[in-house]
Amino acid sequence: MSIKVLWKSKYETVPTTLKKLQELKGVLSVFNANIDAVRYVSVEKFKHWIEKSATPIDVIESAEMGNITSPASFFKGLLHCFEKGIAQEWLISDKDIYAWLMDTIGYDVLQMGGQGGIIANVLSLCEIEKVLVHAASLPKKQSGLFLNRENLLSANEAGELARAHSIQRSEDTPLIHWILEFKKGDTLTLGGKTYECPKSNRFIATWDPLNFRLAICENFTKAINTYEGPLDYCLLAGYQMLTEKLKSNETSLSRIQESKKIVQQWRDKHSLFVHFEFASTQDIVVRKQLLDEMGSWADSIGLNEQELIDLLEVIGEIDLAQECRENTHAVPLMKGLLALMKKVGIKRIQLHLFGLYITILQNTNSEVVQKNRDGMMLAATVAASKAGQGSLETEDSLLWAQGSYIGDVSEQELIKLARYLHATYGVSNFEETGIAITDQFAIVAVPTIIVENPISLVGMGDTISSLSLVGAH
Ligand code: GLC
Repeated sequence: MSIKVLWKSKYETVPTTLKKLQELKGVLSVFNANIDAVRYVSVEKFKHWIEKSATPIDVIESAEMGNITSPASFFKGLLHCFEKGIAQEWLISDKDIYAWLMDTIGYDVLQMGGQGGIIANVLSLCEIEKVLVHAASLPKKQSGLFLNRENLLSANEAGELARAHSIQRSEDTPLIHWILEFKKGDTLTLGGKTYECPKSNRFIATWDPLNFRLAICENFTKAINTYEGPLDYCLLAGYQMLTEKLKSNETSLSRIQESKKIVQQWRDKHSLFVHFEFASTQDIVVRKQLLDEMGSWADSIGLNEQELIDLLEVIGEIDLAQECRENTHAVPLMKGLLALMKKVGIKRIQLHLFGLYITILQNTNSEVVQKNRDGMMLAATVAASKAGQGSLETEDSLLWAQGSYIGDVSEQELIKLARYLHATYGVSNFEETGIAITDQFAIVAVPTIIVENPISLVGMGDTISSLSLVGAH
């Protein structure tokens, strides 16, 4: 049997795995929900914006990296991601630039943004009994983006849980992030230089005064502190917008530790499984703090290949980081994951790469390992459904991609990894099982379904991490 046919038959368990999510009683999705203003970038628009703002190319080229302080640094970020085909999120430093973006760039659609918000919507569709979502701001523009579902709750002004879609905290400020989506193969010529985009991806420009300090809403903590129902999981995200020193005179470290204190209380009361989702974190001090604070404290960590490379840098694995950057494929990334895991003592780590997901677990129990594989196949199916349809709005839309074959790239990545694991650990049949158990850890890899012309890619990682996790319950 060919590998593609074999994995297609493995994926037949997905509807059953999805159904089993109905057994879950409660999931917390905290802390970031925001409004994503999506703008599809064409070469013509890109040029037009630059002309309209009269920013010379040499000014763009010499603008600072990682932070949006002017139109030039905005274009710098967009150009950098476009040219490399990578995803990054940069923070907007003041409100004038926000106004300039609204004016000059505008947007095509508004949709749910933030890991917390995106995860909450998709988990509510999976019919988990209660999905409790934190939002630092809940004006109508934001709450209207939560799916209108009975099981999806947040806190109202009185600190009571209510249907998230219907809450209107009218005094709250809308938190808007620009998502600039660009396409593989687009070619832009500026000042005689040609930039070609190697991979469809996005640049995120974020204006979010509340999440910049990881604001935690007291109405929500009050509601959860007194919540008596059972809770199974807490998914944590939204820390990537922190900077070391905050305008409020606090520090990123104090905010991280404060949030942990709150979550630890919930964890003690409900025996919660805590997952932390890494994201593109520009402030390198914050990145290191997150690894130190969350690495062995959380029960699980999720990240993508860029985020893994960023972390290898902060733990001093410079050569390995370089190897992963030059050859961003399963084998170097696997080495990177193992190095990170050993250094930090992470219990479960999941990488989502284009075509392949890899999870490494300290728990080598074969039932646990297999359930992780089930969760990952569910995640791959739902993620492909999201990419193919642009968004997920109904229960039926979750399994749109069910019954598809895995992609060519997926198969190649899996085979390369299988060869490496065979040569290094003597693992056999990995390309058929996706499972390797050693005496210290277990590795699970799942080749994914690939959608040829995805409508949108933002939020894919959040969907993958959350479903892989709860799908393994
Ligand atoms: C980050 C961005 C948010 C986006 C999300 C997608 O949280 O701030 O705007 O929706 O990533 O994963």
